[in-house]
Amino acid sequence: MRGTDGGPTTSTGPDLRTTAGKLADARARREATLSPGSARAVERHHAKGKRTARERLEALLDEDSFVEVGAHSRALWGDPSQGSPERPPTDGVVAGHGTVDGRPVVVYSQDFTVSGGSLGEVHASKIVKVMDHALRVGCPVIGINDSGGARIQEGVSSLAGYGDIFLRNVRGSGVVPQVSLIMGPCAGGAVYSPAITDVVVMVEATSHMFVTGPDVIRTVTGEDVAMEELGGAHTHNAVSGVAHHMAPSEDDAIAWVKDWLAHLPSNNLSEAPVLAPLDDTDPLLVTDADLELDALVPDSANVPYDVHEVIAHVLDDGELLEVQDLFAPNVVVGFGRVEGHSVGVVANQPARLAGTLDIDASEKGARFVRLCDAFGIPVITLVDTPGFLPGTEQEWNGIIRRGAKLLYAYAEATVPKITVITRKAFGGAYIVMGSKHLGADVNLAWPTAQIAVMGAQGAVEIVHRRTLGAAAEQGHDVAAVRAGLVQEYEERLANPYVAAERGYVDDVIEPSATRAHVVRALRALRTKREQLPAKKHGNIPL
Ligand code: HXC
Repeated sequence: MRGTDGGPTTSTGPDLRTTAGKLADARARREATLSPGSARAVERHHAKGKRTARERLEALLDEDSFVEVGAHSRALWGDPSQGSPERPPTDGVVAGHGTVDGRPVVVYSQDFTVSGGSLGEVHASKIVKVMDHALRVGCPVIGINDSGGARIQEGVSSLAGYGDIFLRNVRGSGVVPQVSLIMGPCAGGAVYSPAITDVVVMVEATSHMFVTGPDVIRTVTGEDVAMEELGGAHTHNAVSGVAHHMAPSEDDAIAWVKDWLAHLPSNNLSEAPVLAPLDDTDPLLVTDADLELDALVPDSANVPYDVHEVIAHVLDDGELLEVQDLFAPNVVVGFGRVEGHSVGVVANQPARLAGTLDIDASEKGARFVRLCDAFGIPVITLVDTPGFLPGTEQEWNGIIRRGAKLLYAYAEATVPKITVITRKAFGGAYIVMGSKHLGADVNLAWPTAQIAVMGAQGAVEIVHRRTLGAAAEQGHDVAAVRAGLVQEYEERLANPYVAAERGYVDDVIEPSATRAHVVRALRALRTKREQLPAKKHGNIPL
């Protein structure tokens, strides 16, 4: 029998005057920490297709690796002897450390079956404690979010708790990888902890993030929007760009996070794990499969191809862990390996929006480049873009300020940077996409590359406006004249050789030899050390 505070009563419980009694009492208390939520709450939770906080940790961590801290924690508010509800142990969050694939991590997993996983003072202090541990030892922080937000009964104490967590999110940013698994509600200001972390993974149908919920929105703006549409996994993966991966189930979300972690070092001073590729073909050999790349770029500059095909030829075993695949698909970003070493890939996608850079693509690329740079992961850039997307919508939403982030990120990054121009590299986008001018180490171009201020059609219209006008007046075949001028422009200016002559491109390579060239470049850059001028921090346009 248990007392109102969850501890054993002296009348019918173990005899606490004896050692055996104290041990029995400790065991009973420990047992009570394992399922602090009511059976009804757990049943409701499972019925939604969700695992409990501990079940999730079991799925995430290596067997028997979890070391819990603060299991006996209880909320500070209320007094059960005065009629306040019993304060369950753990205070709605299971926290501690363990290993994932043998590497140390700290974890916290919010328990929705205890006060809706709401965050009060003690709950927050447990998260803070493990975050501090992660920063001291240099290991990733994985937060599993499933919470009704600030615990209403604890008022400002719970707001303070969020502030304490945010501070550590920021102080730890770029020092240890931080992961957010959203596996239930994540509402109000609570969203700002995941927002600061390096990666946010959501589960289809069961996870939701929003600053203000449907009811408040209806009251304030009159808008009628359902929870799923407002802040479901699809919305944040495809529309807002808040999340980086949408998983069909909790198991898939956990598997994806493990793969993501395997590409990152434990902290900014160590190196990511090196995992030998399954295919042990000499990486400097051009294989029959590689020859496919020689025919990939269509003869017409306006015909798209899928840049994933190029990426697959460059990376070990053709494997890319794509990040934010549903957001701004006109740029592809993700992790892979070359000769077992982790690399980040940023690639324009000609098959989507012709590979143009818009606001979303710029911010997506910029954040990814900065993540790679923070954790010492080389960046491989594949360029095929006609430039920044024109239009008032882009201009008025700040393509100047927000597009600048991408060039800032490249210029600031000191990790090895290798750029391959496969086709179009026009205008500002040529400079922004890992150009030599922004400090790239190795710049290569395929013979199909067109490096110029703009595409041939646009250039001819501007430079030869009078010639074309005169041709029309004189009754000549304007289309034929234009085609001749376009051809002349392409031969003279829109090729890789003008840039190669000036050293902006180090070499013009056969597409099929791309992996071999990237391998050689990465080997040569393995010991790269570059320091930025000492400063407090830069002022990236936000
Ligand atoms: C205390 C809470 C709680 C909260 C839920 N519960 N949210 N208790 N504080 N914030 C409790 C409920 O009372 C209930 O307790 C149990 O958790 C389960 O909640 P239900 O509502 O029954 O579950 P469900 O129907 O699944 O709905 C989940 C929910 C809803 C959508 C999360 O509970 C909800 O809207 N909660 C409030 C969300 C919110 O607005 N939070 C504050 C955000 S502002 P019993 O005892 O009945 O089981 C914020 C500020 C942070 O977080 C600022 C940081 C800077």
